[in-house]
Amino acid sequence: MKYKFPENFLWGGALAANQVEGAWDADGKGMSVADVAMYRSKISVDDYKGHLEISKDLIEKAMQDNDIKKYPKRRGINFYEYYKEDLALFAEMGFKVLRVSIAWTRLFPTGEETEPNPAGVKYYRELLTEMRRLHIEPIVTLSHYEMPLALSLKYNGWVERKVIDYFVRFCNVCFNAYKDLVKYWLTFNEIDSIDRHPFITAGIIPELCETGKEEEAIYQALHHQFVASSLVTKACHEIIPSSQVGCMLTKLTTYPNTCNPLDVEATLKKNLHNYFYADVQIFGEYPVMIEKWFERKGIQIVMAPEDKAILKENTVDYLSFSYYMSLTESVDPELEKASGNTIMGVKNPYLPSSEWGWQIDPLGLKISLIELYDRYKKPMIIVENGVGAKDVVEADGSIHDPYRIRYFSEHFKQMKAAIDEGVDLFGYTSWGPIDIISAGTSQMSKRYGFIYVDQDDEGNGTLRRSRKDSFYWYKKIIESNGADL
Ligand code: BG6
Repeated sequence: MKYKFPENFLWGGALAANQVEGAWDADGKGMSVADVAMYRSKISVDDYKGHLEISKDLIEKAMQDNDIKKYPKRRGINFYEYYKEDLALFAEMGFKVLRVSIAWTRLFPTGEETEPNPAGVKYYRELLTEMRRLHIEPIVTLSHYEMPLALSLKYNGWVERKVIDYFVRFCNVCFNAYKDLVKYWLTFNEIDSIDRHPFITAGIIPELCETGKEEEAIYQALHHQFVASSLVTKACHEIIPSSQVGCMLTKLTTYPNTCNPLDVEATLKKNLHNYFYADVQIFGEYPVMIEKWFERKGIQIVMAPEDKAILKENTVDYLSFSYYMSLTESVDPELEKASGNTIMGVKNPYLPSSEWGWQIDPLGLKISLIELYDRYKKPMIIVENGVGAKDVVEADGSIHDPYRIRYFSEHFKQMKAAIDEGVDLFGYTSWGPIDIISAGTSQMSKRYGFIYVDQDDEGNGTLRRSRKDSFYWYKKIIESNGADL
């Protein structure tokens, strides 16, 4: 009973359209930024930097390139066609909730159309209806690294204010089309990731920015996303009065490497910068320390006269966040680095790492939950957590993944410990409950799932789904509401 979670705790999983659906050009869908993301096999710290390079030339070449092997997100795991089978497996595990995203380009192929593509609207209606039939509550992300490529090329993505209107139009269509099916909405996935991968998050192409003003462009685009998030929060509340709209943060809990006050100060700044993105959406205003930081860096954000009121009056109802690892900060440039998909810190000798160098830190999740609740006092849900690993299929087809079970088990125990300390956590969705294409490297072999998908990095395989050991384990945890941990 020690680990029994609160009644009605929402256990489940989380997906993003661009990493699972495939069918990138089916039924009138337009190209999104994800469709030009190339497969990378290397995973060293330096490669993380390299693979983020993007240019107009690279994009245009990719658009002409039909070699789908190079662009795994175009094929995903064909969830577009397999969704009924996959949802049935989630239901078998007892999922109470599933986080999915709606690909903007299925509804508005270039983003600029005035009417949505009926085939796109229909597809998500069917998907969401099937989820309801299986008693799986949907959480819908409106923007998860999949903006129309046309908006990126024409307006340099979110840098141009006009994109707000297109996004609001898209969201209004979603609210009206699915108001009877969806209560929980999320605006921007990991909105803070804009300064780590501006193209994937916000369609920003560096060469389209004024020279020397690339960073300013990023924060200008972010401002537009903040305003858009507030506007759609307002619209959602009007169209669906019982709805709950959340923001979504990558929780990058950072520890000082030593008690040298310089390390402590650098860490404080890093953590405050991470909070900034949720601060704006929860408190409805920019933190003064960020405004001062902008001033020092010469970053000037152009705001419309009404923006401050829009942000203040339309804050979110709950906080959602992803948590994969903790980071360590040091002012010493010589120390060895550890990496996340696009995040870097100093190696923490107390923590093991995944094969991709992500530092596994279950206690860090408890620390994060307590810090976030203490700061925001909002209901919270963890909408991404998990470990990427290479799985082995045995001759009899079974897949033994004790490393995954261990990872989840340790994290769940810390979630319960945080709840016992008073944190209001109402749900948990593991990342990629079925194996999907990696966001960072577009690999298939970086697997997060309880369900194995027979597909390799080049797209070979039958796409057959099979249950790993962790499938049965998670089913038991959900069934016992954590008591079997
Ligand atoms: C988060 C993203 O940053 O991390 C997901 O919201 C992503 O889209 C997840 O898949 C894990 O990262 P990766 O690179 O291992 O897929």
